[in-house]
Amino acid sequence: MGRGCFITFEGIDGCGKSTQIRFLTDYLKEKGRDHLLLREPGGTVIGENIRNILLDKKNTGMIPMTELLLFEAARAQIVSEVIKPAVEEGKIVICDRFFDSTSAYQGYARNMGSEVVENLNRLATGGFEPDITFLLDISPEEAFSRRVARGEEDRIEKLGMEFQEKVRAGYLELAEKSPRIVKIDGTMSPEDTAEAILSHLEGLI
Ligand code: TYD
Repeated sequence: MGRGCFITFEGIDGCGKSTQIRFLTDYLKEKGRDHLLLREPGGTVIGENIRNILLDKKNTGMIPMTELLLFEAARAQIVSEVIKPAVEEGKIVICDRFFDSTSAYQGYARNMGSEVVENLNRLATGGFEPDITFLLDISPEEAFSRRVARGEEDRIEKLGMEFQEKVRAGYLELAEKSPRIVKIDGTMSPEDTAEAILSHLEGLI
């Protein structure tokens, strides 16, 4: 079997990624296509442990560099242990967030520098990249109303609207630079958004 496909979903907190990922996995199930759904940080036993440290609200003293390196550590593990082998086996791998999250959240919003983050992204992944990335773009205000409906916020989500605005700007700049990133208007109905996503996957899945 040939190489599979690696699809990632990105966007600010509450952008509707989970709903769209569910639409896509339902579609693949219906078609009987072998696929794997993962999330970052996490997706491995080691990665889930790192995730708990990152999202724990008690960890108020975490400095940005620790945060950055923990995200990259979890990523190195999931790429080597799960994503790369699965794609090489011919599977469709869908990941809820990947290195563009680090570029947008740590690189832009936390101001750690895009070059530093891009170098670390490359180091953690060994140069392995998604075939296509969907950026679900909505304003922090719209995202906020969805998050409130969903329940309590985690450590990173607690940073507020201004932070989310910076993350969004970071994502939009990344999308401008990279043809791999497809920007999707996240304010459309879930069904229309799903259709837009599928139209970009023709020939890939
Ligand atoms: P999660 O609960 O997965 O949020 P969501 O459902 O919105 O994806 O929490 C992940 C949080 O971690 C989210 O606020 C984004 C942030 N994050 C980073 O800051 N950098 C990263 O590299 C990744 C993967 C996530």
